[in-house]
Amino acid sequence: MRIEIRDERPADYSKVDDLIQAAFNGNAQAQIVTALRESDERYISLVAEQDGLLVGHICFSPIEFEEGFNHQGCQLSPISVSPIEQGKGIGGELINAGLERCKIVGWNSVFLLGNPAYYSRFGFMFASEMGLHCDGSLDPYLQYVELESGILNDCYGLISFHSAFNPPDT
Ligand SMILES: CC(C)(COP(=O)(O)OP(=O)(O)OC[C@H]1O[C@@H](n2cnc3c(N)ncnc32)[C@H](O)[C@@H]1OP(=O)(O)O)[C@@H](O)C(=O)NCCC(=O)NCCS
Repeated sequence: MRIEIRDERPADYSKVDDLIQAAFNGNAQAQIVTALRESDERYISLVAEQDGLLVGHICFSPIEFEEGFNHQGCQLSPISVSPIEQGKGIGGELINAGLERCKIVGWNSVFLLGNPAYYSRFGFMFASEMGLHCDGSLDPYLQYVELESGILNDCYGLISFHSAFNPPDT
């Protein structure tokens, strides 16, 4: 079955939100994506479409280096595939297409928090080995991939994610 990866459109929003909630079995990640859409900062939001149905979604948003490095990094999060379509390579297609898009728009490294057993196959490596950190308890899950070889050689310290990932307590 052919998968088309394309930009998310406003007409997709509610379907994407449903898809994210189904994949994560909760609405926290869909709320993050809503906040990113409403933000005035750039982000990338792609969907995977199969026979007219949305079966996957991936988002990339800017990160900051607390040491102030003038470096264009982003975070991959969230990524979601419809539960009944998981394990068929759709997540991999979204990641590969997303990394290509990040390069095109000028981001030169991508970070994420996730299971290394999955993300290492796309070239992601442990950020702590480069001296890059986030919240201490999440550090073992923080991974990066360079889209330009050696671009992170001189970077170190804390990175922070888009404010959409830290919604105020309600
Ligand atoms: C994670 C997710 C996006 C992967 O998409 P997918 O289309 O199912 O993945 P693919 O078909 O490309 O790859 C399947 C492989 O990834 C592995 N995999 C999937 N999710 C994994 C996870 N969370 N941890 C480790 N491995 C995982 C599968 O075991 C399978 O491994 P194999 O190729 O060795 O058999 C999808 O499973 C999903 O939406 N999960 C729920 C939401 C979620 O956890 N998102 C990621 C948060 S970091």
